[in-house]
Amino acid sequence: MFSPFLLFACLSVAHAVSITDIQGPAFRSPLEGQVVEGVIGIVTAKGPSGFWIQGNRTSDIRVSNGLNVFTESTTIINSVSVGDQVSVTGTVNEFRTKGSGDLFGTELEPTNASSVVVLSSGHSVAPLILGVERSPPTQSISALDVGPDGFLSVPNNQTQVEVVNATLQPSEFGIDFWESLEGQLVTVRSPTVTDFESKFGEFWVYGKWPVTGLNSRGGLTMTFGATDLFFY
Ligand SMILES: *[C@@H]1O[C@H](CO)[C@@H](O)[C@H](O)[C@H]1NC(C)=O
Ligand SMILES: *[C@@H]1O[C@H](CO)[C@@H](O)[C@H](O)[C@H]1NC(C)=O
Ligand SMILES: *[C@@H]1O[C@H](CO)[C@@H](O)[C@H](O)[C@H]1NC(C)=O
Ligand SMILES: *[C@@H]1O[C@H](CO)[C@@H](O)[C@H](O)[C@H]1NC(C)=O
Repeated sequence: MFSPFLLFACLSVAHAVSITDIQGPAFRSPLEGQVVEGVIGIVTAKGPSGFWIQGNRTSDIRVSNGLNVFTESTTIINSVSVGDQVSVTGTVNEFRTKGSGDLFGTELEPTNASSVVVLSSGHSVAPLILGVERSPPTQSISALDVGPDGFLSVPNNQTQVEVVNATLQPSEFGIDFWESLEGQLVTVRSPTVTDFESKFGEFWVYGKWPVTGLNSRGGLTMTFGATDLFFY
């Protein structure tokens, strides 16, 4: 027999927001700007401006199950460790540095220090092995690559990726592939570095997966071609 209390409990569980609900299948979150309660995930990494959590996958490869929890509160950052299962209440934001043409990063911004709760510890998350479980496409960057110069032909040299906010096609387009893994823990086996470090200490690599444009210096040469038009 169902008591009203049990029914209420069932409804609350059904309505709990998951990381995959926040990520959705497009470039921008379906829940952008909304406050979401009790999002559960396992902490996979920490940084100076927050940490990353990961929940269960779905069968839809367009939808990431990882998420950046953005906060500059050292109280919050110090309260979690890699391997903790946490519950986070906060606001879903799409962030990029003002004036940059970068892709937006989907983030969950905790309301306050009490809105991050450690539920249990000592969990592990298996990373997705790039080049084994999934590999990036090698021909086209984005569905918007039209015109003779591909992605350089965009109006006013401004990418329209976030304006169009298309549903991702990770098997066809490079940007869509990486967006579909946003915030996820991955492993790149035997990486080859293709340039020098940026001011953030970041650099580009490719792993053990099929590549095109491999040149004699070990880099990858980008070329413009009919495939850009073909894939549109
Ligand atoms: C982006 O696409 C998602 C999924 O289709 C949609 O829910 C969301 O409202 C869109 N956001 C914007 C700003 O267009
Ligand atoms: C993930 O799936 C497991 C096994 O079905 C379940 O016990 C767990 O509660 C799920 N985690 C989340 C965050 O939904
Ligand atoms: C902190 O945020 C929670 C929601 O996660 C809210 O219930 C609580 O009232 C807030 N506390 C303060 C002191 O603002
Ligand atoms: C786009 O950038 C190229 C190369 O910097 C420049 O020659 C061109 O004038 C720019 N086009 C527009 C519309 O700003």
